Amino acid sequence: MASHSLLPAVLQAVMKGQPKALNDPHYPAWHLAPVTGLLNDPNGFIHFAGRYHLFYQWNALGCQHKHKCWGHWSSEDLVHWQHEPIALMPDEEYDRSGCYSGSAVDNNGVLTLCYTGNVKFDDGSRTSWQCLAEQNSDGGFDKLGPVLPLPHGYTGHVRDPKVWRHGEFWYMVLGAQDLQLQGKVLLLRSENLWNWQNLGEIAGSGLNGLGEAGYMWECPDMFTLGDNTFLICCPQGIVREEKRWLNTHPGAYLSGTLDYANARFQHGAFHELDAGFEFYAPQTTQTEDGRCLLVGWMGVPDGEEMRQPTVANGWLHQMTCLRELTSRNGKLCQQPVAELQALRGEERFYQGPAQQMPTLDIQRLELMVESSGEVTLSFSETLILEWHKDELRLARRSLENGEWLYRYWQGDAQKLQILCDHSSIEIFINDGEGVMSSRYFPVHPARLTLTGDAELRVHYWSLHPCMVE
Ligand code: FRU
Repeated sequence: MASHSLLPAVLQAVMKGQPKALNDPHYPAWHLAPVTGLLNDPNGFIHFAGRYHLFYQWNALGCQHKHKCWGHWSSEDLVHWQHEPIALMPDEEYDRSGCYSGSAVDNNGVLTLCYTGNVKFDDGSRTSWQCLAEQNSDGGFDKLGPVLPLPHGYTGHVRDPKVWRHGEFWYMVLGAQDLQLQGKVLLLRSENLWNWQNLGEIAGSGLNGLGEAGYMWECPDMFTLGDNTFLICCPQGIVREEKRWLNTHPGAYLSGTLDYANARFQHGAFHELDAGFEFYAPQTTQTEDGRCLLVGWMGVPDGEEMRQPTVANGWLHQMTCLRELTSRNGKLCQQPVAELQALRGEERFYQGPAQQMPTLDIQRLELMVESSGEVTLSFSETLILEWHKDELRLARRSLENGEWLYRYWQGDAQKLQILCDHSSIEIFINDGEGVMSSRYFPVHPARLTLTGDAELRVHYWSLHPCMVE
């Protein structure tokens, strides 16, 4: 039985909330963000019938993790996006506690969503259903209902189906927690998207030589680039190290080879996907010309998210920029997708000692910086990047207690590409060998000042604003 519709309340929330969000000086000028309320994971990223579609976890009714719907944007060029009708709302028994994350496929010409129906019970327990929905002629989605109940041997934490086609079959990876409270990824197979056969665990805590690796793995995604198959996932509960795994929960990847016939994934150690303060739940898709793209949530669950000042203006979080993935010697590299260059204004250039570089307005700016010395980049004194010979150290104050917090990328950084928006900084290191994505909340107009006597070569561009229409 369908429960009460959230639609009237969502409409009211958008009418009341959108002006406040869009007038907030921290609201992004060219990144995707919610028009009101809370956004988290990107979902259903796909190129379908000539357009890109990107869905997102959205609570229009407030900044808490509740009432999750699927919002929907589409774009022809990956730069200019438009709003589409809300795709999914939690209005059935099997998804009443939230239409949780999932993916999209082209099922014989029909745009089809695979998502998790989350159900929470009064005693604190929960279950989940993997569900389908398909696009109708109005651009909205009709729910087809659950196709997979909770598999045996797992708790109610089974979710986030990522589905793809390989040969004759559909394959799905699912994030799961087993009854010993270990995080796992399951591989499933289907001929028709309706009947699924569980092929078993392909990675997880205690598997394939990984050791203890967390109590729940969320948002798995699997794809092949050249000779390597990559499994992206978000392992919750892995042990913090001095300079790695410092966020409450990370986005990570394993690189290896997948044997479809035996459902075995041989892989090496975990790598951090992003070394900044905010990055989680990324999702990938293929473009028509064969590129692999990634977009992530520039947020982290369970951290200091509710302290972000935008909550006072009724909105919270944004996406990362769209990135192209490549594989270099089994390592995943990320670079801003080439289409974003359309946002660039006139190119400027500076060469000379760091401290003599003019101060730049960084509300919307892209920089390509080459240097081999010691430099400090201060983003309005709110986010500070120390560029040392063998590491980058990014510093920011805790929103909770004002203490300085640090994130690190270790290695010899020769070249940085930095993308700035009103409240975010994305730093791409050595053509994408590393990335540090972070939100920050400066007083505007935010400014970049550099110190150090190292010689720099800097190309930079002011970026045009580009709001969703
Ligand atoms: C990750 C996540 C997913 C879940 C969704 C709910 O951020 O917890 O596992 O499907 O968010 O919004």
